[in-house]
Amino acid sequence: MCGIVGYIGDKPAADILVSGLRRLEYRGYDSAGVAIVNGRLKVCKRQGKVDELQRALDSEQIAGSLGIGHTRWATHGPPSDENSHPHVSTTGDFALVHNGIIENYATLKEGLIRKGYKFESETDTEVLVHLIEDVMKTTGLELPEAVRQALATVVGTYGIAIVSQDDEDLLIAARKGSPLIVGVGDGEYFLGSDAAPLIEHTRQVVYLHDGEMVVIRRSGMDVRSLDNVPLNKEVHELEWDLEQIEKQGYDHFMLKEIMEQPVALENCMRGRVNVDDNSIRLGGLLQYMDQIRAAKRIIIVGCGTSWHSALVGEYLIEGLARIPVEVEYASEFRYREPILEKDDVVIAISQSGETADTLAAIREAKERGALALGICNMVGSTIARETDAGVYLHAGPEIGVASTKAFTAQVMVLTMLALKLAKGRTLSDEAFAGYLKGLAEIPDKIRDVLDIHEQIAQLAQVYRYASNFLYLGRGYNFPVALEGALKLKEISYIHAEGYPAAEMKHGPIALIDRFMPVVFLAMHDSTYSKVVSNIEEVVARQGSVIAITDNGSEIERHCEYMVRIPRTQEFLTPLLTVVPLQLLSYYIAVLRGCDVDQPRNLAKSVTVE
Ligand code: G6P
Repeated sequence: MCGIVGYIGDKPAADILVSGLRRLEYRGYDSAGVAIVNGRLKVCKRQGKVDELQRALDSEQIAGSLGIGHTRWATHGPPSDENSHPHVSTTGDFALVHNGIIENYATLKEGLIRKGYKFESETDTEVLVHLIEDVMKTTGLELPEAVRQALATVVGTYGIAIVSQDDEDLLIAARKGSPLIVGVGDGEYFLGSDAAPLIEHTRQVVYLHDGEMVVIRRSGMDVRSLDNVPLNKEVHELEWDLEQIEKQGYDHFMLKEIMEQPVALENCMRGRVNVDDNSIRLGGLLQYMDQIRAAKRIIIVGCGTSWHSALVGEYLIEGLARIPVEVEYASEFRYREPILEKDDVVIAISQSGETADTLAAIREAKERGALALGICNMVGSTIARETDAGVYLHAGPEIGVASTKAFTAQVMVLTMLALKLAKGRTLSDEAFAGYLKGLAEIPDKIRDVLDIHEQIAQLAQVYRYASNFLYLGRGYNFPVALEGALKLKEISYIHAEGYPAAEMKHGPIALIDRFMPVVFLAMHDSTYSKVVSNIEEVVARQGSVIAITDNGSEIERHCEYMVRIPRTQEFLTPLLTVVPLQLLSYYIAVLRGCDVDQPRNLAKSVTVE
């Protein structure tokens, strides 16, 4: 989704802004622009990639050490130069960039048009610009105060940044529902809608919270609530370093992140899984464990891939700890008046910690008195802050839009949680020890799966022209079938569906012919013999079977291709079976010439409803 950068200091702003926008490209966008102040306000914006903007800037050579930049992901008005940000006041004095949605923009726009303001774009953002302008005109207030007053009339969500040619020592930012982080340097400040554009300049950051506005000058910054109460903000140290957000020789971030999974999971388990003293320690949940154990129901909410890991979580927590679990799309949960009781526990899963629907679901849960927990990757993200407690993934930054290592790390956290809930309740110490040993072996087993990446690349050659795919799995591997199908859809644009293998007979079987590749997750677990029957049903209809399996002798004759992966305990299989599916979608997308890291129309972090 949209990204914001800002700079105030003594270095050339254009370079800093453009490199910051490049770091935000992964979020998904369709146009980019900057506004830089150097005596006068200069704006340069283009539909298309940051490269287009860079070319335009190269020809204009805009100097100045104060500026803002934006990558836009269209909501109101199609991608175009006009609709790109920054948007500028009628007088040309100040420029504004905006993430989020102004819900009452139509009413505000009508009023402003009546007052004679002319609109050059179809965006909701331009309303904000004229609104601020109008407050200045009618009240005589200075820009910061006018921004504060204008924001009071706005309904919706925003992260905004503003610069003005009337004050070259002023950068204003404010947030409500759309993240903003200020990077603190030496006599200079950086602004980012996430940490990625800041890391190469500073690791000292201040997280703006909802309802806060910051006025930044080179000599310091002043953070206040939107109703003008001064706030003392803590400076945090970013955990990530530059290397982690670069490709390190890989062609794509997605491949790098797939390959990083063994290390990501080791980091996720570090200090938590203790084989020697047969324990799991989840520090963030320590004081809530009894409450979670006593929960009547655990409700897990998330979107996209995080929803799939939530489904694995349902199998894990119900299967191991015997606590009832429900999984809901965050977007449905928040609007359907869910029945929540005080003994319920709601867990939000979100890699970014910023997904608008997941955040709203957690707010809803808290309002209704439930304990709200978060499983997030981004440290300091809004969901991490607003939940009562939680567990970080520690998987390192995920830049590829299609989530990979975050999925396995989410499943890892849910596995640790399920085992911890089960210990001494449904699992003896001895059984727990066996499970813990299996868990600790997972990173090495993923290494073994990754070793066969060339075999999967060859498989991709065979299936690159397919128009449809079916993914089938049962039990713990049903959510993996969904995730495999999602990965393929997202980055290769091939239509794919995931189904519980037995459900195939209630619909998808009608689609099966010799042109339909069917990926089976056929691990030697409690559902194996049933899956073998499902494979036979597909073969009988000439479907082309690809099996991901740890066994295979019975099914070999039925399969066009078999991908053999290591054996593990049933509850741990999703951590292995998903890996070949990630690789398959990656290699197919590359062969089809798709933009793997920035697939069309998708965004890494969906910060609007
Ligand atoms: C977007 C991303 C997905 C992600 C989903 C949820 O759709 O493209 O990869 O799974 O949002 O994101 P979250 O950050 O909440 O896990």
